[in-house]
Amino acid sequence: MDRILVLDFGGQYNQLIARKVRELSVFAEIKSCRSFGLRQIVEEGYKGVIFTGGPDSVYEEGSPTTDPGILDTGIPILGICYGAQLIAYLSGGKVSPAKDGGEYGRTEISHVQSPLFSGIPEKSVCWMSHTDLITEVAEGMRITAVTDKCPCASFEDSGKRIYGVQFHPEVTHTVFGKEILSNFVFGICGCKPSWKMEDYLRTSVDRYREELVGKKVLLGLSGGVDSSVAAALLHRAVGDDLYCVFLDHGLLRKNERSLVENTFRPLLGDHLIVADARSRFLEKLHGVKDPEEKRKIIGEQFIRVFEEEARKIGHLDVLAQGTIYPDVIESGKGDSAVIKSHHNVGGLPEDIGFSSITEPLRELFKDEVRAMGEMLGLPGELIWRQPFPGPGLAVRVIGNITEEKLEILREADAIFREEVEKLEKDRWPSQYFAVLTDTDSVGVKGDARAYGHTIALRAVGTDDFMTADWFRLPYEVLESASSRITGQIKDVTRVVYDISSKPPATVEWE
Ligand code: XMP
Repeated sequence: MDRILVLDFGGQYNQLIARKVRELSVFAEIKSCRSFGLRQIVEEGYKGVIFTGGPDSVYEEGSPTTDPGILDTGIPILGICYGAQLIAYLSGGKVSPAKDGGEYGRTEISHVQSPLFSGIPEKSVCWMSHTDLITEVAEGMRITAVTDKCPCASFEDSGKRIYGVQFHPEVTHTVFGKEILSNFVFGICGCKPSWKMEDYLRTSVDRYREELVGKKVLLGLSGGVDSSVAAALLHRAVGDDLYCVFLDHGLLRKNERSLVENTFRPLLGDHLIVADARSRFLEKLHGVKDPEEKRKIIGEQFIRVFEEEARKIGHLDVLAQGTIYPDVIESGKGDSAVIKSHHNVGGLPEDIGFSSITEPLRELFKDEVRAMGEMLGLPGELIWRQPFPGPGLAVRVIGNITEEKLEILREADAIFREEVEKLEKDRWPSQYFAVLTDTDSVGVKGDARAYGHTIALRAVGTDDFMTADWFRLPYEVLESASSRITGQIKDVTRVVYDISSKPPATVEWE
């Protein structure tokens, strides 16, 4: 199978680049420029390399870089934004700060004939985001596109198959971005479109059947898309050797436990084990306010409960997890800044009692996991659910967690979801939930002064959860959610709507 390497220089769109390449049916993987060197790149036999963007300036000391020898290997290279500047810089060109502060957003670009722009109109709209400029390219390179403010919006050495673009072809605002990536991947690198989910599913099933032969596997099933797909995949591979533990940590949404039981009991029978650990989690979280500490405690307790359940089942060898590719990258295994340690990666204790861990989805993006779930015959209701974080309502009760607060949040969240879900399905936000803030406020209930909690409603639209826009819900939805929440929940006096996007905010409040 042909593969493209996405060499990560720390930009926030890096996963998007890999996803866009995979959408072209070519497998792409992300490696950090700091840990993945020239020798490995050559040995792995990639058909092409994409240098990603990044927040640094190439001319500053300590900025991320790579062995300039890569430019002479003959492997096709496409540099994007910082990646393009790095190619220009390493090959002897000049990069300097833009005098007028750079270019941001939609920008008209004009290009000349080039293999990279094959089939694209001479003028089009691209997405820019840069403060540095390539002001000169090295001998042998030629400038192939300009904008009003940018004297080198793209360049190439087509003999060496090296290309650089100042703009971001991976974002949808670049109108012909997909065509540009496709020209690189197929026209320039000569890849074949051989990454297909059917094949990946088949090879995964074969692989896990072989790897896990004679082993008993325990999977933590949360009822979310990832662990559900992992369960269905592993069930297909190892059948009755799979045991799934659904852990009720008391941080679940309303009715979640019964929904999961109703969905999975028919498939797994008595190999679906429901562990009730509500009081234990509450005890461990007592008085803990720090979000990262909450995640670590929950991650550790998850494993402890699994170990105990494993001991009850008898001999079990392997712990399976529904970790997906963005979890791996966001937990700092890639090079982008660590934003939150996702409990199923960062919070893992070191002394787990299983002989190995298997993560059958760790190479897949969310949309690929969903596609696999459909192929495995899981119900649409489950595949298309909004995501729910592993630490559950713990990261939605801001600060201290108590049973009383959890109950209030569960009710408010259920009301909000119910109101949103009255809309046509295609108008639902990507994620929508309630948060119990730690701000109390004054209100009037009946004729009396009341002092109670403030609930924040959060709804976002996003493709990839790396960036997200606050969602423009119809006022009627907000109004009915607000009046039901304040009317039906005794201790809530105020409801606010969160209108922050990611970045700079994150989707979850903690
Ligand atoms: P953030 O808050 O990082 O959320 O913008 C992005 C997506 O990830 C989910 N999320 C988590 N999922 N463990 C998880 O399994 C976690 O610790 C965690 N934190 C955030 C969040 O719900 C959103 O979908």
